[in-house]
Amino acid sequence: MREIAVVGVGMTKFGERWDKQLRDLFVEAANEALKDANMERNEIQALYVGNFSAGSFVGQEHVGPLLADYLSLKYKPAFRVESACASSGMAFNLACMAIASGMYDIVMVGGVEKMTDISAPEVTSVHAKAMDAEWESFFGLTLPAAFALIARRHFVQYGTKPEQLAMVSVKNHRNATKNPLAQFQFEVTVERVLTSPIVSDPLHVLDCSPVTDGAAAVILCSAELAKKYTDTPVYVLGFGTASDTIALHDRSDITTLGAVVEASRQAYKMAGIEPKNIDVAELHDSFTITEIISYEDLGFCEKGKGGLMIQEGETEIGGRISVNPSGGLKARGNPIGATGVAQVVEIVQQLRGAAGKRQVSGAEIGMTQNIGGTGSTCVIHIFGRQRR
Ligand code: COA
Repeated sequence: MREIAVVGVGMTKFGERWDKQLRDLFVEAANEALKDANMERNEIQALYVGNFSAGSFVGQEHVGPLLADYLSLKYKPAFRVESACASSGMAFNLACMAIASGMYDIVMVGGVEKMTDISAPEVTSVHAKAMDAEWESFFGLTLPAAFALIARRHFVQYGTKPEQLAMVSVKNHRNATKNPLAQFQFEVTVERVLTSPIVSDPLHVLDCSPVTDGAAAVILCSAELAKKYTDTPVYVLGFGTASDTIALHDRSDITTLGAVVEASRQAYKMAGIEPKNIDVAELHDSFTITEIISYEDLGFCEKGKGGLMIQEGETEIGGRISVNPSGGLKARGNPIGATGVAQVVEIVQQLRGAAGKRQVSGAEIGMTQNIGGTGSTCVIHIFGRQRR
């Protein structure tokens, strides 16, 4: 298997982007990645793009060729990947395999979503399509409600407290004030989180990731080519992907995301590292409970101790493992199809030492963890400043 490097990254400002269409958002991020890699667009051999539901959000399907067209990648293969919130994480994974296999030498991976053109109830219905349509969403279960059930059960099994969930929001909002591309650049307090409107008890508005427009793009090449494009390539050391039941009720324990456990086991093994070696991680905090459970299922702490981990400040920038320095989905924003690649953009910036005010000092090894639906998909990548 050939080694893989990331040599260019680009991302739009996340938020309500009335000023740009879906295609324009993507082209902006992609052009920035090309510029960052000092690369001509005709060097790109294929495009992989994550997108969850452009058909429902803006009435546009067939986004692979659309985006290749607007990026002037004439006749180049363009693959659209859909895996709910993990769409562009999965696109990145497939692109890694294409480079590793020798099929392509240089590819672009991106993600884009434009979600704010429809009403909030409509957005909630579109999100619910990532769950079991016949046995969950048909009966009125929504994604926030599903994670509320998970949170409640975590409270019962492990004594986790609403205040500990709120601390995830406080940390990620604070980090986002140092990220000029983040959707929300304001701080919140535990009290403000706990008094914000309830979305689905015990989750408040400030426990939820928002509705976001945005795009992100990166350029991958074989490790041998990397130094031609940049002095600071970041290498993919390992990855893992796994699926789990589509419906929550088919799981023996809803407080564990089995796909996260399995995908991380594969990724640690391929990278030859343990959880304690991770310096910085971009985790999938779609809801505050998701970040807490992820600490546990990734092996950052013992099962049931995620609440304590946030409470003791272990995941602050500069803590034992810095988690979501970008602000995470919670505060950087969550344009579903773009989130996985936006996580990669942040880890690459961190490992280059180019993350500005939110830089994790001396970061050598980073992780991205991207989840789809209620954890029915998980894809994890581990990155390093040095080759394996
Ligand atoms: N966090 C922080 N602030 C938020 C927010 C969030 N999640 N959602 C909305 N806001 C802010 C808006 O910016 C706006 O602020 P303003 O008045 O200063 O402009 C205000 O709250 C009202 O926004 P509005 O768009 O009316 O909120 P809403 O009630 O329509 O939507 C949620 C709020 C929580 C329902 C929506 O953010 C949501 O559905 N989140 C979950 C998304 C999700 O499930 N994603 C998939 C995860 S896998």
